[in-house]
Amino acid sequence: VTHDAEQGDPAPPARDQYATTAGAYDLFAGPYRAGQLAALDEVRARFRPEVGPLLDVGAGSGAICEWLLTQVADAEVLALEPSHAMRSLLLARVAAHPEWFERITVWPDDFFSTPLPPRIGGAILLGVIGHFDAGERAAVLAELAARLPEGGAALIDLQDPETPRRVEPFEFLAATIGRLTYKGISEGWPVDDERMRWRMSYLTLDGERILVEDTVESVHHHPSPQTVADDAAQVGLAIERLGGTSFWRLTPKGREGGRRS
Ligand SMILES: C[S@@+](CC[C@H](N)C(=O)[O-])C[C@H]1O[C@@H](n2cnc3c(N)ncnc32)[C@H](O)[C@@H]1O
Repeated sequence: VTHDAEQGDPAPPARDQYATTAGAYDLFAGPYRAGQLAALDEVRARFRPEVGPLLDVGAGSGAICEWLLTQVADAEVLALEPSHAMRSLLLARVAAHPEWFERITVWPDDFFSTPLPPRIGGAILLGVIGHFDAGERAAVLAELAARLPEGGAALIDLQDPETPRRVEPFEFLAATIGRLTYKGISEGWPVDDERMRWRMSYLTLDGERILVEDTVESVHHHPSPQTVADDAAQVGLAIERLGGTSFWRLTPKGREGGRRS
């Protein structure tokens, strides 16, 4: 067994940005799942599992992986998840399904540190585009464009608001489980013309009494659809909004797009 520490001094462990969020992630992501799955359903015909693995970038707790493994016959999934805490949730989900072990690889790194296969059968980037700055976003799109087959697709979402602005605190009920309720409170501030600072609080309540209150702040990029369309066009990808949603389909433009077949 070799590991990086044998090649020099080990780097200090980076702070896990998702350590707090992972605490009850699937409960708080619950209100968004139906929309994600409907969007996946819309692009599923474009996935080409025979060409290569389906790439799930920032796979989180693995809910999207589960959909891919159960809904796309014979798909192999390459799930990228750099957060130790989120990966624990993902591996727990996979562990309950030994029949998936031959079909999924959970790579414990970020997008740019992961060795990607030369061809992919599709890509899913949900809740993750906002983690990349402009240069990284362009590089991610270029890597996808170089690997997607003609007629294939990537699914992304762009987080609201489209332009940074103050978002007053809003509360949402995630779930009631037994005697306890799980609530989230979200609040945001503009940082500049592309970034927002978000504060999320995750509450566990016994009636009015707060048993757990976890708060985390993070800065996210909110590129406008036009900005992403321009970035995508640079690498030969066309972008199309799915209905009136925050989900977008990216497809290689093909020869008539002037760049690649
Ligand atoms: C909001 S969560 C979304 C998880 C999942 N896709 C979902 O929709 O439920 C964003 C995920 O992206 C991961 N992430 C952040 N930066 C990343 C990067 N550079 N490369 C790959 N994943 C990243 C985080 O660790 C986190 O699990």
